[in-house]
Amino acid sequence: MAEFIERLESQLVGWLGAPSILRGLFDEARAVDPVLVVGGRALVSSFAGVTEVLTDPSFGVKEIYAARMERTSGAFFLGMDAGPAYDREASLVRQVVRPADIGTVRSIARATAWDLVDAARPVGTMDAVAGFSRIIPTRIVQQFFGVPGPSDADLMRWMRTIFWEIFLNLTNDAAVAVAADASSHELSPYLMGLIEARKADRLKGSRDDFLCRLIDQQKQPGGGFDDDGIRRNIGGIIVGAVDTQSKAIAHALEQLLKRPAALEIARTAACEGNDVLLRGAVFEALRYNPMNPVLPRFCQRDHVLGHGTGRAKKVPQGTLVFASTFGAMFDDAKVEAPGEFRADRPSDNYLHFGLGLHRCFGERFNDVVLPEAIKAILSLPELRLEGAIQYDGPFPEHLAVRFDPR
Ligand code: HEM
Repeated sequence: MAEFIERLESQLVGWLGAPSILRGLFDEARAVDPVLVVGGRALVSSFAGVTEVLTDPSFGVKEIYAARMERTSGAFFLGMDAGPAYDREASLVRQVVRPADIGTVRSIARATAWDLVDAARPVGTMDAVAGFSRIIPTRIVQQFFGVPGPSDADLMRWMRTIFWEIFLNLTNDAAVAVAADASSHELSPYLMGLIEARKADRLKGSRDDFLCRLIDQQKQPGGGFDDDGIRRNIGGIIVGAVDTQSKAIAHALEQLLKRPAALEIARTAACEGNDVLLRGAVFEALRYNPMNPVLPRFCQRDHVLGHGTGRAKKVPQGTLVFASTFGAMFDDAKVEAPGEFRADRPSDNYLHFGLGLHRCFGERFNDVVLPEAIKAILSLPELRLEGAIQYDGPFPEHLAVRFDPR
């Protein structure tokens, strides 16, 4: 098992294209011991254990994310442990979100998805990643968050290379670090220039996007971020927005297209306008190949996981902990009949967006973007897979689909 944890670290990226292998390994690990602690590493694969790791302050993120964030997009609250700096920065960002934003983001996702699908309709084939799932969140970053980028290609490259380095360069691959550094050297001055330009715009017009709101916040009672703080925070948010949603759309779509009964549920829900059932089918499909199979944490002080249960286990200070949200979502102690596709599971069966302090800031946006994307693409008649997802490292790059041209 020590060997398995080492392989998990070194091969996780390669295993992303084989979710059933990964799931089998997590099931096996959970059966042997839901909290495996070996050689400075721990693998936690039960629902209860993962929940405890993600919600207990003994397990932090600073040692995992902070240095790479500071080197690339800048210090960001996902890399901070609980404390005044986290509270201030996370709450300043959350303050500029408004209830109507969900509708705005939904409209951008819907319009983009249907335009792409309608353009492909007469052709009969489509790349559901490069020509679809990656474009939808890019438009949201441009139109809602207010960061157009010099071009789509530059924006997508910056987001991907920096995300890869911060969250997925588990093997410290030098090429990944170099690409992220090159992107950071372009992104940082670009964002500072954009902030200056938006300030000038604010004097003239009534533009409203997320970046403008962070700028306006500077003048409000209580103040906001300084310009560099705006750069760090808008940068952190957009880096987390594109390849996450793109991958989740691609994974959910592929899983639905592999399961005729599940596809039928999703397609019927989409046709009948049953958004609750469609959403259920999309997040259930994603359970079979989640965006994020494990979340890393650093054990900052000795902690007994499962204290008071028959399976208490000490995790020593300094342990690098892998909390397998993928494994947890197949733990039958929490999830009824985990091997069955069920579109009506309670939402607390899912850990797609983490838990606790760092639970995903974009969750409510994802809740509308993913179903809108899937609804549009399922409108293509006789939609079917033409092969599997092709990856660029950990990121879906292409997924060929075919349908009857009309
Ligand atoms: C389907 C797409 C997405 C998935 C599956 C996802 C998943 C996650 C997960 C698992 C975490 C917790 C990380 C951890 O605990 O280590 C997280 C945090 C976060 N996500 Fe997402 N995410 C998605 C999209 C987005 C989007 C679109 C945004 C921005 C609009 C976003 C912004 C964030 C931020 C800022 C945090 C940190 C929150 C905090 O520290 O308080 N995510 N996300």
